[in-house]
Amino acid sequence: MGLINKHGVIERNATLLLIFSFIVVTIGGLVEIVPLFYLQNTIEKVQGMRPYTPLELTGRNIYIREGCYVCHSQMIRPMRDEVERYGHYSLAAESMYDHPFQWGSKRTGPDLARVGERYSDKWHVDHLKDPQSVVPESIMPKYAFLADRMIEPEYIEDLLKANRIVGVPYTDEMIANAKADFVVQADPDSDYDGLVERYGENVQVRNFDGEPGISEMDALVAYLQMLGTLVDFSTFTPDASR
Ligand code: HEC
Repeated sequence: MGLINKHGVIERNATLLLIFSFIVVTIGGLVEIVPLFYLQNTIEKVQGMRPYTPLELTGRNIYIREGCYVCHSQMIRPMRDEVERYGHYSLAAESMYDHPFQWGSKRTGPDLARVGERYSDKWHVDHLKDPQSVVPESIMPKYAFLADRMIEPEYIEDLLKANRIVGVPYTDEMIANAKADFVVQADPDSDYDGLVERYGENVQVRNFDGEPGISEMDALVAYLQMLGTLVDFSTFTPDASR
């Protein structure tokens, strides 16, 4: 009983309650925050993650501009129903080059974190132009105009540089070749060795929308087809040392 009676003193004195609350919150905060200063990195390194190619990064900006994240998440939670439907749960490292991240907070449509290589380019183009043509019950809006909007990589170097400032490891070489890399990724007849050398074997080089020239559709489909394909989950083992 003794302790409970003493607690009554604190409860009846607002100033005392505030002081003790402050002390408790401070201790709790320090315990949570201080260890972070001693960690080099809070994100487990995962093989396969690379910065987005200039074309993918452009597609990503279109994804953001069009508000795709309003209806689609890009984060598979580690729960059985999600993993069975969408694939391996998302790793922190998979969004470490995302500025801003696209986890989303609402799923009017399905999660897109691993949609890459699940459908053909043609399916994506048809679906984006007129979702109801491939999924009759779909309520997704049409984005046919993307195919008519041709794009030039005018500001692509600036885009890479801006990402580098916030921590994406774009090299000087990647920035210097950004315009060329942008163009060759959408043209399988070009010499794209440099692109592959800079971004890796798994870069997809295709005429994504099947039409001449590079349109916003090409960039968006290049981005979608890359999503979730960078980490090879057949060889991935979580690092248990953390
Ligand atoms: C108003 C909500 C809404 C918006 C905005 C929206 N979508 Fe969708 N999306 C859906 C719904 C609902 C589905 C499921 C039916 C279907 O496949 O069309 C879907 C399906 C998809 C699929 C197929 C996913 C799968 O696994 O089958 C892709 C890819 C997709 N959307 C991409 C996009 C992109 C890219 C944008 C932005 C340009 C976008 N969506 C904007 C609602 C939306």
